[in-house]
Amino acid sequence: MTTDPREIKAVGVLGCGLMGAGIAQVCATAGYRTLVRDVETAQLIRGRASLEKSLAKLVEKGRVSAAQREAALGQLSYTTDLAALAGSDLIIEAVTEDLAVKNRLWVELDSLCGPSAIFASNTSSLPIKAMATVTRRPDRFVGLHFFNPVPLMPLVEIVRADATSPDTFERSLAFVRSLGKDTVVARDTPGFIVNLLLVPYLLDAVRALERGVGSIADIDTAMRLGCGHPMGPFTLLDVVGNDTTLRIADIMVGEYRDARYEAPALLRRLVAEGRYGRKSGKGFYDYSVDPPVPLLSEH
Ligand code: 3HC
Repeated sequence: MTTDPREIKAVGVLGCGLMGAGIAQVCATAGYRTLVRDVETAQLIRGRASLEKSLAKLVEKGRVSAAQREAALGQLSYTTDLAALAGSDLIIEAVTEDLAVKNRLWVELDSLCGPSAIFASNTSSLPIKAMATVTRRPDRFVGLHFFNPVPLMPLVEIVRADATSPDTFERSLAFVRSLGKDTVVARDTPGFIVNLLLVPYLLDAVRALERGVGSIADIDTAMRLGCGHPMGPFTLLDVVGNDTTLRIADIMVGEYRDARYEAPALLRRLVAEGRYGRKSGKGFYDYSVDPPVPLLSEH
């Protein structure tokens, strides 16, 4: 029996932050051998802990069986060595939203990985083309944009850049479906579909708070109960990470030159103070108490 060299068996995940850990979790749960690489050992340890906590929660909720969790844990390994990703059939990059950082990794991986390996970026706002063109495989480059929290959110946007080959697109689509995710296809424009619409909404919520339209809790409740959103904008900002949203906004305002993507001063201040959201323990809410309380006096 011959093995199809295009078959995806081993997945390399670059970055073990919120998104990278979530992506690694869903790949391993779907049965792929998954190697997660981060430059920092401390980040690998944090990411691994959050991944294992998430799997435990899903078992507790009956969404994943204990056997599936064990199998998933057996598929996962962690490294700081980029060269260890050389045998991957698919690389999914989820490092910080900085084109120069991403491209340094892509150039190196392009030499390390086999010719049939697919490169995918989970970028939220950077053009896929700007990464694909630094490699010798723009036809095997695609965007796979996951949503936070990755194990719970059913969607992945597949970003088909001009150079993405039909074969790469089909293999990526089949892979994402094998993770149990739904897909939409987006053009390679900054923010794709979801962030193009979501980011101005989140920034407008911060502007509304700055203007004193309502409190953090009331604006959140308004959008939950008035519009049926699963969580209000400030809870969501804290889930996504205020630092991440700020970076996306700055990239999108640079691309579109549109005031809708201009980050409000309050968001910048929170990020400068290290109030990134859930991941840092404080954002618009304080997560050191249960249930979290809005940090009303601090804005
Ligand atoms: N793994 C496992 N469990 C998790 C988890 C994770 N990663 N994250 C949260 N949970 C758990 C919570 O601990 C909580 O458990 P509890 O019930 O025991 O307290 C539970 O999930 C939350 O369950 P709920 O019953 O409150 O809520 P649902 O299960 O119905 O839905 C949700 C949770 C799917 C997160 C829903 O609130 C939702 O859809 N929120 C909106 C999220 C969203 O919009 N994400 C997109 C952000 S944009 C983005 O990511 C793009 C990027 O580029 C910026």
